[in-house]
Amino acid sequence: MITEKLLIRVKGASTVTVLTGAGISAESGVPTFRGKDGLWNNQQFEELANISTFEHEPQKFWDFYNWRREKLKNIKPNLGHFALVDFERHFSEFHLITQNVDNLHRVAGSKHILELHGNLNRNRCSQCSAIEEHGSDKIKVPKCQKCGGNMRPDVVLFGESLNQEILREAQEASASCEVFFSIGTSGLVEPAASLPYLAKANGAYLVEINEEDTPLTPNVSESIRGPSGKILPRLAILFDKLFT
Ligand code: OAD
Ligand code: ZN
Repeated sequence: MITEKLLIRVKGASTVTVLTGAGISAESGVPTFRGKDGLWNNQQFEELANISTFEHEPQKFWDFYNWRREKLKNIKPNLGHFALVDFERHFSEFHLITQNVDNLHRVAGSKHILELHGNLNRNRCSQCSAIEEHGSDKIKVPKCQKCGGNMRPDVVLFGESLNQEILREAQEASASCEVFFSIGTSGLVEPAASLPYLAKANGAYLVEINEEDTPLTPNVSESIRGPSGKILPRLAILFDKLFT
C-alpha cells in the first residue's frame, strides 16, 4: 500500500537514497540470484564466479562470464528502472545504490549511480587495474592492452571485498538521507544488507518494495508488496503531482 505518510515524507525530503537488487531487473528477463531459477541455485556457478577460479582456471572462468554476458546482451530496462530516472529529478541529493551488475540503470538514464558490485560490461586488468569500458563477449581470456595482464570482469567475485570508496559513498548516502527505498533485494548479502539499517538509525523513512517478505520487512516504515515494474511507475506519477 502507498500511504499518505510516505507522500508527506517524500514531499518534505531533499535527500533520497535508493538501494536496488536483482528484483528490479526481473521484469527485464534477468534471473535473480536466489529465487526460483536463481543463478546461485546452481552450486557450480557459485564456484565459477570465484576469484580463485579466475586465478587458477582463467579459461573456465571466462567461459562462464562470456555466457553471462551473452545472456544479458539484449536485455532492456523496464518501467521500474525508468521510474527511478524520474525520481531523481525531484531531489537536490539523490543516490541510486545498486547491487546489480547488469548496467540497466545506466542505460535507463539514472545519473548518481553507485555500483556496489561493479558492472559486467566493463573489464579490469588484474595486474594494473586498467579499465576497458566495453568488454567483448567473444575473447577467451582477454589481455590488458597496457601491461598484458589477464583482464577480468569489473565485478565483485566470491572471495573478494567491495571497492571501499564506493562502499563508503553508499554508507554516507544511506546515513544522510531522509527517505530510503530498498527495492527488489533479499537483503541477505552484506555489506549492502546493512545500508537500510544505517538509514533508519539516522532517522530516515524506510520503504521496502518487494514481491515477498525479507528479513528487512519487520523493520521498515512502510512495505509495498508487488513487482517494482508496476509499483515504481505509480510512485513516479504520485511524486510528479507532489512537485508540480
Ligand atoms: P536475490 O536473488 O537474493 O533477491 C531478489 C529479490 O527480489 C527477492 O527478495 C525477490 O522477492 C525480489 N523480487 C523478485 N522479482 C521482483 C519484482 N519483479 N519486483 C520486486 N521484487 C522482486 O538478489 P539480490 O538481493 O540482488 O552479488 O542479491 C544480492 C547479491 O547477491 C547480488 O548482487 C549478487 C548475489 O551474490 C554478487 O554477485 C557480488
Ligand atoms: Zn594491465
